[in-house]
Amino acid sequence: MALFGKKDTLVGLDIGSRTIKVGEVEPSADGPILKKFGTLDISLDLVGEDGIKDPEGLGDSIRQLFKLYGVREQNVAVSVGGYSVIVKKITVNNMSEEELQETIHLEAEQYIPFDISDVNLDFQILGASDLNPNQMSVLLVAAKKDMINDYLNVLGIAGLNPCIIDVDAFALQNIYETNYDTGGDCVALIDIGATKTSLNILKGEDSVFMRDVSLGCGQINQKIAAQIDCTMEEAEDVKMNPDQDKIPSDDLREIESSVITDWTTEIRRALDFFYSTYPDDQIQKVALSGGGSKIKEFVKLLAVQTSSNVSIINPFERFIIDENRLDTSYLETMGPQAAICMGLSIRRVDDK
Ligand SMILES: Nc1ncnc2c1ncn2[C@@H]1O[C@H](COP(=O)(O)OP(=O)(O)OP(=O)(O)O)[C@@H](O)[C@H]1O
Ligand SMILES: [Mg+2]
Repeated sequence: MALFGKKDTLVGLDIGSRTIKVGEVEPSADGPILKKFGTLDISLDLVGEDGIKDPEGLGDSIRQLFKLYGVREQNVAVSVGGYSVIVKKITVNNMSEEELQETIHLEAEQYIPFDISDVNLDFQILGASDLNPNQMSVLLVAAKKDMINDYLNVLGIAGLNPCIIDVDAFALQNIYETNYDTGGDCVALIDIGATKTSLNILKGEDSVFMRDVSLGCGQINQKIAAQIDCTMEEAEDVKMNPDQDKIPSDDLREIESSVITDWTTEIRRALDFFYSTYPDDQIQKVALSGGGSKIKEFVKLLAVQTSSNVSIINPFERFIIDENRLDTSYLETMGPQAAICMGLSIRRVDDK
């Protein structure tokens, strides 16, 4: 080990539109050790559905989060998602990684609905194609340059050094596989945040369906705001406070019920798409995360509507946690929202 060798540690930073999260993990022979985890609710006008709206404000909030939890590490892994990111499995003629690096933009052109000069491309060679021995399958990732630049800019403002830019749905898969054995089952991973939902269906260790949709807990706020004419922040307070008197509780329940019905319909549509492609397979399990998974009625409804076993991810399931240094009840409360952040925290600097 070099005395002045490059540090390979980093922290995971999930920049949610409502809650930003940071996690620090140290690998060990007995399993990952959770060193730090913290969250901060941010003002709802910093990050919108289509990206970062206030870089200075967001940079300040990220600094504040790091300070609050005594995180000094500057190397970070972040992730992006939503409509500006496209992940596709494609098939190309056999070639070396270097050759593909040279030609990936030509290959990608036909699969990407954006101008190819507007996106950053990345890929991973998955292996030989099942259908043609002269071809191989490649996982293609395209993300809008504007969005990536906005993230880099904000991290710069926060004084951080971006080491890895991951994709939300990959981070979700990463943390799920760290904590649970899929055993060849089909599992649907679904993270429902404030403004977006990431879906990733695994068949064994392979991801066979990945999609982000614009659904989230913010829809509930919008409906509350429309009914009682208030700001989104006020609506958020009303929603989270069981003793509020701004809106009749029956009305609130009705709003919540209509939104979770929406979510369930959209999720069923994705599952149906999976079943039409893999008619012989059965999704044994739906694993939920994100703030939306804290809505008990939703978990119940989804279980009934999908006839699957629906559970909530505990991203810390297999982590070693020092109960004298970390607040375990806080970890338990925030766990569902921590999945993507923890998927980022377990990445290492030299990972691809
Ligand atoms: N107990 C709860 N009941 C209902 N909703 C909740 C609860 N706890 C959190 N939420 C909602 O969850 C959302 C935050 O969840 P999460 O942290 O997953 O979102 P985010 O990562 O900030 O958003 P996104 O990923 O969409 O940008 C907020 O809209 C909040 O209102
Ligand atoms: Mg999120």
